[in-house]
Amino acid sequence: MPAADSAYNYRVVKQFALMTVVWGVVGMAVGVFIAAQLLWPELNLAPWLSYGRLRPLHTNAVIFAFGGCALFATSYYVVQRTSHARLFCDRLAAFTFWGWQAVIVGAAITLPLGITTSKEYAELEWPLDILIAVVWVSYAVVFFGTLWKRKVPHIYVANWFFGAFILTVALLHIVNSAAVPVTLWKSYSAYAGAQDAMVQWWYGHNAVGFFLTAGFLGMMYYFIPKQAGRPIYSYRLSVVHFWALIFTYMWAGPHHLHYTALPDWTQSLGMVFSLILLAPSWGGMINGVMTLSGAWHKLRDDPILKFLVVSLSFYGMSTFEGPMMSIKTVNALSHYTDWTVGHVHSGALGWVGFITMGSLYYLVPRLCGRTQMHSVPAMNLHFWIATVGIVLYISAMWIAGVMQGLMWRAVGEDGALTYTFVESVKSTYPFYAVRLLGGLLYLAGMLIMAWNVFATVAQSKPVEALIPAAAWSRSCRSPSRNRSPSPWPASSPTARCSSPGATSTCARAATTATRRWCGPSAPRSSATARTRWPASSCTTARSSGARSAPAPTCTASAAATPTSGTGCTSSTRATWCPSRTCRPTHGWRSRLRTRGTSRPR
Ligand code: HEM
Ligand code: HEM
Repeated sequence: MPAADSAYNYRVVKQFALMTVVWGVVGMAVGVFIAAQLLWPELNLAPWLSYGRLRPLHTNAVIFAFGGCALFATSYYVVQRTSHARLFCDRLAAFTFWGWQAVIVGAAITLPLGITTSKEYAELEWPLDILIAVVWVSYAVVFFGTLWKRKVPHIYVANWFFGAFILTVALLHIVNSAAVPVTLWKSYSAYAGAQDAMVQWWYGHNAVGFFLTAGFLGMMYYFIPKQAGRPIYSYRLSVVHFWALIFTYMWAGPHHLHYTALPDWTQSLGMVFSLILLAPSWGGMINGVMTLSGAWHKLRDDPILKFLVVSLSFYGMSTFEGPMMSIKTVNALSHYTDWTVGHVHSGALGWVGFITMGSLYYLVPRLCGRTQMHSVPAMNLHFWIATVGIVLYISAMWIAGVMQGLMWRAVGEDGALTYTFVESVKSTYPFYAVRLLGGLLYLAGMLIMAWNVFATVAQSKPVEALIPAAAWSRSCRSPSRNRSPSPWPASSPTARCSSPGATSTCARAATTATRRWCGPSAPRSSATARTRWPASSCTTARSSGARSAPAPTCTASAAATPTSGTGCTSSTRATWCPSRTCRPTHGWRSRLRTRGTSRPR
């Protein structure tokens, strides 16, 4: 048995991963049921089975149960692996698991009973809100506590996204849920009128921005490079992406309230920030897609990469569509129509769903001591069924939405409306049928996944996830660590060591150093880990035991291998490579492509 702190805590990761699948099936089944209710209203069989009560059950189940469990699982896995540290406080981590499941079960009981605050995506009543706040603060303590006790100097960019998501969701939830309770299951919002609406959509939009986007970008920055076996295309771009995205999202909420009682200037401000949001969103999407440079051939037979890359395509699509829909004149057509539902599900099914599925297919075998899922053909089948399902779902909703918008605004020569509302509903029925078919296919894919996951779990072997010995113990740390924990590679000499050259030259040197000097249990298969310290600096630091070892440089490796092409790329060499053998050749582009600490562990 490994000592408590010498192995990663995979238990809680596995629990959350499995519940992601369970809640995914439940939430999507409810989605299919309400899609059927829109087609056949007779299915509103009882009050607790009525559309009005089940719709929030669907949104809560897929966003907070399916998406939430996936975020817990992946963030706990990634923060441990990239920090070389076990989760901070196992008991608190276990509490977050059981607490979150209690919230979900509470939602599954109260929403069908009609107990709701009526605030979209924040429907749960105050006792559950308090439980959410407690669980979330515990989550923050576990996550940031793990970062605090990390054994590597750098905070990998995925953790920045996870960290921002955790902090922001805490803030959003606590502010938006402020309410005056009147009974155990009834409360009134602390805000009124237009302010209430503004606070609600500040929350609502940032729930999209941080819950459905930033956290999943954390997954993207870890699992795509790992699965592709390539470093992030541009680590610098990922940092620019991070700051630009979190700054901009905060201001875009008013686009949900165009043409309402909200002051007009606020609506225009929301529109402008939504348009700006296109840039960081696409920056991140391009960074993810370009990470596959040189590894595109893997897409042919790697279903995990297929999920991950297609999710990015949907991310790009929905983050192009969103800014367009935020333009007031476009929103005048799209608002209240099924176009919005199409937009939501291109993000939800394509981006959120696929990145989660790809990440789980990566995680589950590793958590079960296996090399791959029980059935790879089933993964491929899942991918194709779900893709066809999404295409049917969103194209049906786009067409229905534009049709509805046009029908509602059509007027005859005398100024009277051309169509009644009921006529527009009637014309939408065929599209609801297509959406139902798309949803059924997507759900079928999820069921295949559930079977595959449970078959893999059934063949589990014990996993000994040992934490690498402190190849870079605190004594190995550069003084700069204390100055700035910034993820910007250039700010830290230690990071410089993991220069692009590291992929081939430093990496090899450091691997040797790791094995020779840092013990046999040094990073096992972790390419990045090895890219940190070139041989010379690791040995110097460790053998002298100096607390502030001289900032390591790529000297040894860079000088040892005159680099061109695959060694240190030009950008790093210009800034860092002491041998100065390498000069930037493409200006900003080469600077962007710094592959510093871009390979996760
Ligand atoms: C640049 C990024 C994005 C922008 C600017 C944006 C913008 C918009 C706009 C203008 C609406 C319509 C508001 C209305 O007329 O009521 C909307 C709705 C919505 N979007 Fe996005 N979107 C973006 C990305 C995403 C992504 C990636 C997702 C999902 C993963 C998403 C989920 C939603 C949801 C759930 C709604 C419906 C909100 C409601 O209940 O009314 N959005 N978005
Ligand atoms: C089998 C898959 C799914 C089906 C059949 C489905 C179906 C539906 C239906 C029928 C609605 C109500 C639309 C309306 O009000 O007219 C809806 C709303 C919604 N669904 Fe899904 N859904 C599925 C999966 C998902 C997933 C995976 C997510 C998120 C990760 C999601 C997020 C949402 C959201 C945010 C809304 C509210 C949209 C809005 O207010 O505009 N759905 N879904």
